[in-house]
Amino acid sequence: MSLTERIAALEAELENAKARTADEVEKFRVAMLGRNGAITELFETFKQVTSEEKRALGQRMNQLKQAAQARLETLRSAVEAEGPAQQGPSIDLSAPALTEPLGSHHPISIIRDRIVEVFGRIGFTVSHGPEVEDDHHNFGALNFAPDHPARDMQDTFFVRSADPAQDRIDGIDTTITGLHPNELALRTHTSSVQVRVMETTKPPIRTVSPGRVYRNEAISARAHCMFHQVEGLYVDKGVSFAELKGTLDYFTKSMFGPDVTIRMRPSYFPFTEPSAEVDMSCTICGGAGCNICKHSGWVEIMGCGMVDPAVLANCGIDPEEYSGFAFGMGVERIAQLIYRVPDLRMYWENDVRFLDQFTAATFRS
Ligand code: DAH
Repeated sequence: MSLTERIAALEAELENAKARTADEVEKFRVAMLGRNGAITELFETFKQVTSEEKRALGQRMNQLKQAAQARLETLRSAVEAEGPAQQGPSIDLSAPALTEPLGSHHPISIIRDRIVEVFGRIGFTVSHGPEVEDDHHNFGALNFAPDHPARDMQDTFFVRSADPAQDRIDGIDTTITGLHPNELALRTHTSSVQVRVMETTKPPIRTVSPGRVYRNEAISARAHCMFHQVEGLYVDKGVSFAELKGTLDYFTKSMFGPDVTIRMRPSYFPFTEPSAEVDMSCTICGGAGCNICKHSGWVEIMGCGMVDPAVLANCGIDPEEYSGFAFGMGVERIAQLIYRVPDLRMYWENDVRFLDQFTAATFRS
């Protein structure tokens, strides 16, 4: 390769030289201008050419060296300007953080937790029972007569008809779960948990039992075949009706505000005597009368009563020694009085545009 050709080749090489890191810039410098670099070596060769050639190519040789130095500077400053970003993707530390969308508590869970918390403050524990119940806990021990209409197929979802000979149901050993092999049903109320607690706990008992219940009802804007209740039970020596009323007054004021009042209307439940229905002064109209309270100024919020002595006895508690009160409320009903959702079915559609609107914080404000 002639000197001219070598100069041309190096010029082209300079033109195409690239460097992405400081190391590569240094490699380029060594390869071109270092002690054994291509341009340095070319100058050694140049020393030996004829003076004629020197005259002809001297200027081009100097231009080549200057071009190499210029190229070196360009590469160096480009790498410095890019900085460490060349090592990986660039990060803008001043950019706003990306937020993950947060889930929210279901409105029914919010109200259920709030009810449980209000009773927790006055010493009520939380107890649970199975959703698949036997006749004894859902009806029998609670004094429902064998022909009581609530046992009817119209109301109750039966899981399995009677077959006392079999003590395994769907692979579950019913002697372990405590479920009786006959007449299994989806519980129609959480009062069944009362029975389970009284059968296994020595008074004093103070407990609330939140949970799902099931009734064979047509689904509509105002009814569902699955809903939630919170049952309450207080059993001790000398428990009075006045304490029941005081407890429920405390609950309603804690839940709905200090201005609400309650009234009790005589009623009937098989497991309480006397029994009452509890009304609360309408929170919407303040008692003046509106659509929600059907212009009566009162809305019904729960059932309650003194535990029937026969029920205490059914559960192994001596009614001569102990008395108690019980109450039961629908969580959806309490939620409706707070959120006023126009259609009950919206609670179960799991549409995030609906669910997103509920937070515990919203409730407290
Ligand atoms: N179990 C009743 C129902 O489902 C509610 C109820 C009423 C529970 C009175 C009670 C009570 O403990 O004393 O409608």
